[in-house]
Amino acid sequence: MIRLGVLVSGLGTNLQAILDSITSGNLRASVAVVVSNHAGVRALDRAAELGIPFRVRERDDFETRRAQHGAIATDLAEFQVDLVVCAGFDRILHSDVVRRFEHRIINIHPSLLPAFGGGLHAVSDALAHGVKLTGCTVHIVTDQLDAGPIIAQAAVPVLENDDVQSLAARVKAAEHTLLPQVIALFSEGRVTVDGQRVHILDPISSRLN
Ligand code: GRF
Repeated sequence: MIRLGVLVSGLGTNLQAILDSITSGNLRASVAVVVSNHAGVRALDRAAELGIPFRVRERDDFETRRAQHGAIATDLAEFQVDLVVCAGFDRILHSDVVRRFEHRIINIHPSLLPAFGGGLHAVSDALAHGVKLTGCTVHIVTDQLDAGPIIAQAAVPVLENDDVQSLAARVKAAEHTLLPQVIALFSEGRVTVDGQRVHILDPISSRLN
């Protein structure tokens, strides 16, 4: 069974979606550790409530960002994670970490990349731009922000009366379905990365391999 390390910074609704998928039997995985770069966030309560080990690695406790992210990588290694899931982690991972877990770190972003990448305002930017369709993207993390190979996307319509809150809620609902589905692909060994392209093996060919 695949072991997950989940990196969080805030509410943790995507963490909850992963945990719910595991509980319901839709995802064969375990959350080995949750690591947050902020203390006192809701995501950590969710881990604690289920007895899942968690660590807090705040920037202020380290001399450099490199040292902070190094400590996060040590946590992930200690818990022997197979896949690192950035589920609302609000910082770019240091390239040391990206290299150490090459092609084994994924991120969920609230837009259809490459549109509205590169920041924390993807939903409001999409709304301001007047797009009729937005969504969410799960991609492999590289050291380029929101630019790694795309694994999967889900589209979400922008409705006439949407404001940022209503659109963000619809995008989040799509995230909560897509992220566990993508993790399931990894748990089934069906994801391969070929340069900027990700290939998803079908279940039959992966069984033969
Ligand atoms: C999500 O919208 C995700 O796309 C973005 O951060 C948000 C995290 O939300 N990267 P939550 O903490 O999982 O509720």
